[in-house]
Amino acid sequence: MNAGKKVSGGSEAHQYMVKLAFEAMKVTAVLNQGYHEPEEIFVITKLYPNQFANAEEAVDEALDKLDIEYIDMMLLHHPGDHDVEAYQAMEQAVEEGKICSIGLSNWYVEELTEFLPQVTITPALVQNEIHPYYQENDVIPFIQEKGIVVQGWYPFGGRGHTAELLGDEVISEIAEAHGVTSAQVILRWNLQKGVVVIPGSGNPEHIRENIALFDFELSAEEMKRIAALDKREKHDWY
Ligand SMILES: NC(=O)c1ccc[n+]([C@@H]2O[C@H](COP(=O)([O-])OP(=O)(O)OC[C@H]3O[C@@H](n4cnc5c(N)ncnc54)[C@H](OP(=O)(O)O)[C@@H]3O)[C@@H](O)[C@H]2O)c1
Repeated sequence: MNAGKKVSGGSEAHQYMVKLAFEAMKVTAVLNQGYHEPEEIFVITKLYPNQFANAEEAVDEALDKLDIEYIDMMLLHHPGDHDVEAYQAMEQAVEEGKICSIGLSNWYVEELTEFLPQVTITPALVQNEIHPYYQENDVIPFIQEKGIVVQGWYPFGGRGHTAELLGDEVISEIAEAHGVTSAQVILRWNLQKGVVVIPGSGNPEHIRENIALFDFELSAEEMKRIAALDKREKHDWY
């Protein structure tokens, strides 16, 4: 993600993000199938707002608790007091080899506009709530055009809302047309928008299903039908 690829225009940025989203999901697929050494697991963890004032110690504490030599990626969980200082502490930890990549979670256009000029390392990733009922169609291109990866949390609406999304008539119809499940349609829709997606599941069958996304493609018309489902219905804050 920090490979230094130059992204200049909207469409190039979008194509690049689509490629990254696919590659990230393929890596996840390989890891989840068990073809990996333990050191190949990609560890993402966060600093919470109550840690922002003492971020340097919090990074060391995370390393201790996880019992690893370095953290692959660390995010700030959401905007809050001392967030710039906390991010600067993560930048310092990157210099020191304690963290490889840093990013943000729950940052939107206004917050990013204020935050980004105050930091040196462009966030590798911003992790925000994204699902067909809360699509963030204004936020995603704003982030992607800066060469930042967008990662979507609550892809199925989050626990307590999954029945609505997975049972949605339009999504179910599209799923049936491709011989896949509603969950797969939602995940594939994210990937085709260049959004890396992190479905939660404790069910091995669902996990297998959630990474089998590369043998079908949603048409432009199907992408439009899903786009029309947006209700700007946020299901959670953090
Ligand atoms: N940054 C933030 O502020 C923030 C906030 C909230 C969540 N998150 C992250 O977002 C990720 C996802 O959150 P989440 O797990 O709460 O919500 P989610 O992915 O929208 O929904 C998870 C629910 O979907 C079910 N599910 C998963 N795959 C399925 C499939 N193929 N078919 C049918 N049902 C399926 C799961 O049940 P089974 O277990 O039975 O599969 C579980 O009940 C997590 O990594 C979480 O940490 C981040």
